Amino acid sequence: MFESDQNKQVNPLLPGYSFNLYLVGGMTPIIENGPLDFFIDRPGGMEGYIVNMTVRGQGKVFDGADAFLVSPGDLLLFSPETPHYYGRAQGSTDWYHRWVYFRPRAYWANWLNWPHQTRKVGRLSVGIGPLFNEFEDLFIQIDQTHRQEKRTAEELAINLLERLLIRCYEEIPDNQPTSVDVRIRATCQFIAKNLASNIGLEEIARHICLSPSRLAHLFREQMGVNILRWREDQRIILAKHLLQNTRTPVAHIAGKVGYDDQLYFSRVFRKRVGLSPSAFRKAVEEHHPSLVDSVESEGPLPGGEPSFGNKLTAG
Ligand code: FCB
Repeated sequence: MFESDQNKQVNPLLPGYSFNLYLVGGMTPIIENGPLDFFIDRPGGMEGYIVNMTVRGQGKVFDGADAFLVSPGDLLLFSPETPHYYGRAQGSTDWYHRWVYFRPRAYWANWLNWPHQTRKVGRLSVGIGPLFNEFEDLFIQIDQTHRQEKRTAEELAINLLERLLIRCYEEIPDNQPTSVDVRIRATCQFIAKNLASNIGLEEIARHICLSPSRLAHLFREQMGVNILRWREDQRIILAKHLLQNTRTPVAHIAGKVGYDDQLYFSRVFRKRVGLSPSAFRKAVEEHHPSLVDSVESEGPLPGGEPSFGNKLTAG
């Protein structure tokens, strides 16, 4: 969506495409002797995650002793930097697989830890029964939604991706639904209300009436990520929203999301989003010219309510 360099590969199904994005989805229809009938070989893996589902035929993942086959209803999860090596299985005339490439939000950590793995590739099978359609539909919806020409397309696609990851999480054998400790829930709310200020762990812990070390431990245990990383995630979500929907200057946005130093904010933003704040805004504007014109510079902020992932219910 944000590619500008004319010389770059624009087809994500072919080698050389740069996945410098938050989310890309697609379907790779590999047919014996067709143009896509080659092994996808990324020894260094990718910067983001890939979730992949076989919808037709058989694929083969890896070579040698760890090689395994995937059939319709099999899902795979590649974490960043995990080598990719997969293609059509020899005995099959085709291999169709749907996939979503994404950079996760911090609170997704729990859903991305699939216990059954081969060479760090998470494996899960939903079979070809009733779950097959539900999962395939989610992949299709993510892809279609992300391609829509509207400013909320990416947020809606991310929302659907969260649903897919939560459903995978639920289908992992042995995953019992657990509820988040009320103190951790209060912590998330407190942090979200104070995103603009740099309150430290001690103050948060005081507010929740726990010791800092106990809070840090409990938070990590329940949310799967440490407090500061979780806060950074909320800040980036809010910053993206403000850049995308308002004309508020970047320096002002930096302050609103808790960074006094605009340069530091830009560095963190670039690291997390893959573009600087102004490049991100420019890319959104180029893509949706009518967007910011119609929105007041200080629209309602979504920062009041934190994102909890699947661990908390509203209320
Ligand atoms: C495509 C592959 C697909 C996935 C994406 C990221 O080229 O066909 O399996 O790896 O790249």
